[in-house]
Amino acid sequence: MENLDLIKSIEEKYQFKISPNKNIRKEYFYRVKKKYYKIFGKEKKFLSSNTIFKNLDKDEYNTIKILSEIDNMSSIAVGFIINQIAKKLGRNDIYLNIGIFRGFSLLAGILNTECKVYGIDNFSHNYHFGNKLLKPEDDSQENLKSKEYFLSYFNKHKSENKHKFFEIDYKKFFSNFNEYINFYYYDADHSYENQLENLEIANQFLKKNSIILVDDYNEEPVERATLDFISKNSNKFKILKEFKTANRFIHPTYANGIILFEKHS
Ligand SMILES: C[S@@+](CC[C@H](N)C(=O)[O-])C[C@H]1O[C@@H](n2cnc3c(N)ncnc32)[C@H](O)[C@@H]1O
Repeated sequence: MENLDLIKSIEEKYQFKISPNKNIRKEYFYRVKKKYYKIFGKEKKFLSSNTIFKNLDKDEYNTIKILSEIDNMSSIAVGFIINQIAKKLGRNDIYLNIGIFRGFSLLAGILNTECKVYGIDNFSHNYHFGNKLLKPEDDSQENLKSKEYFLSYFNKHKSENKHKFFEIDYKKFFSNFNEYINFYYYDADHSYENQLENLEIANQFLKKNSIILVDDYNEEPVERATLDFISKNSNKFKILKEFKTANRFIHPTYANGIILFEKHS
């Protein structure tokens, strides 16, 4: 199946109650409900309930159920898209995820799939930036918590010979890497320079017909760096689909926006 047809067929399997072009900050009823669910520790469940899945088989529903439990900086629709792309890969193909946090995007590639899955994270996240209750010195403790949380899921669901985790800076990882990637998901540092450099480095390892997913596409530096990379390499790369949302950060549809593109030659 062509990559574009694959994306279209994935989109046919779900719909949203609140659509990506609705600004949730202006949805008063939605916000009250979200606060209510947060009090009872069920905010993620509430966010996921915005996505209605259709015509899934039992294994796909099970996958959604497990993914919905995992703390994440994404959305269930993005997890589903990752899972459906990974599900199409063969047993010798590779899904490589840079930026794992608590494991959501990595587990999305592992559950109910046959491909090899490699995850890279150096647990360097800046937690105090988005949480005023934290100080810079709390970051290492928060990163350790995320690592332990991730490992509890990873160790439960991994297959020893197919699924690998590397605790390392992604540039160091690539300096020793010598395989080809079929599906690549980048979700680490999103500065313009790093976003562009990351795609340039990864390009050396991307196989023909590979799919690339970039997260936080609502952010101007991310969009600019990704589009600059695609236009510099327009003979090789083509956009499959851009999913933007009306507001930034965790929108219940596509979180902070994603773009999917392919290396066609
Ligand atoms: C936004 S989080 C990833 C969220 C994750 N994809 C999910 O599904 O919830 C970004 C992650 O990238 C990692 N990171 C940042 N810079 C990195 C680098 N240079 N090398 C490897 N990992 C990095 C951070 O430690 C953090 O866990």
